[in-house]
Amino acid sequence: MRYDARANSYGSWRDAIDELRRRHLLNNPTILGDATLYCGDCLEALPHLPKVDAVVTDPPYGIGYKSGPNSAKSISSVGKRFERKIVGDDTPFDPLPFLQFADVFFTGGQHFYDRLPKGGAFHVWNKRGDYKPLDQADGDLIWSKRKTPLRIIKLVWRGICRTTENNDPIVHPTQKPIALMEWCIERTAGTVLDPFMGSGTTGVACAKMGRKFIGIEIDPKYFDIACERIRKAYDQPDLFVEPPAKATQEALL
Ligand SMILES: C[S@@+](CC[C@H](N)C(=O)[O-])C[C@H]1O[C@@H](n2cnc3c(N)ncnc32)[C@H](O)[C@@H]1O
Repeated sequence: MRYDARANSYGSWRDAIDELRRRHLLNNPTILGDATLYCGDCLEALPHLPKVDAVVTDPPYGIGYKSGPNSAKSISSVGKRFERKIVGDDTPFDPLPFLQFADVFFTGGQHFYDRLPKGGAFHVWNKRGDYKPLDQADGDLIWSKRKTPLRIIKLVWRGICRTTENNDPIVHPTQKPIALMEWCIERTAGTVLDPFMGSGTTGVACAKMGRKFIGIEIDPKYFDIACERIRKAYDQPDLFVEPPAKATQEALL
């Protein structure tokens, strides 16, 4: 904060506006069941959040940063349907601010493996299943801070073939399966934070699992979608909804 107590003022108008924005963000979360949801920048919110035990997130990977086989251009078939740029996708992801928590799970670890600390573990999300290869990648690397044996999570997720979500429409260009986030959450304890919650998949999984959740999303359009999905998850106890298919897991060796 750039408030100068002696001068009883801010350094500049911009400082004052930034401070007002930050206060507004932190003082106005949306509370749904055990979920506390903030619309704003996670890096601004992070130092002021209530207690967090685990981070489970699908960050913007910076794949729009350079062209290549995994660049934004190569996922354009999905992107075209949305025609909305993902905030943060034009800069490389920095995992450092999120490594302070006891448990951390990042999806898309292959995009920023060189910025991850030693000692964690990679897991393979096999999203092709037994189908033939397409242009898109067959899988994704999930990184966990705790060192555990490498696991393979088999969950088909491409085109119209998505083995979870109960046929709900896909509402975010990089939306992840609820069952994938459940797989990560099961391996953590306490309150889960998703600082890049997009359409709120991690929050939906937490609601279904009875876990406390804090979610942050910078894009108001996706924030509203996340609130709606999480509200629905609380409104539909598992007893009355078709439970999403469980991720199957295979040991590598
Ligand atoms: C890869 S997407 C997450 C998609 C999510 N897994 C889902 O299933 O919908 C990352 C999200 O982070 C958001 N984002 C980017 N920078 C952010 C920031 N600094 N603070 C909060 N959210 C941010 C983007 O708007 C985007 O929706």
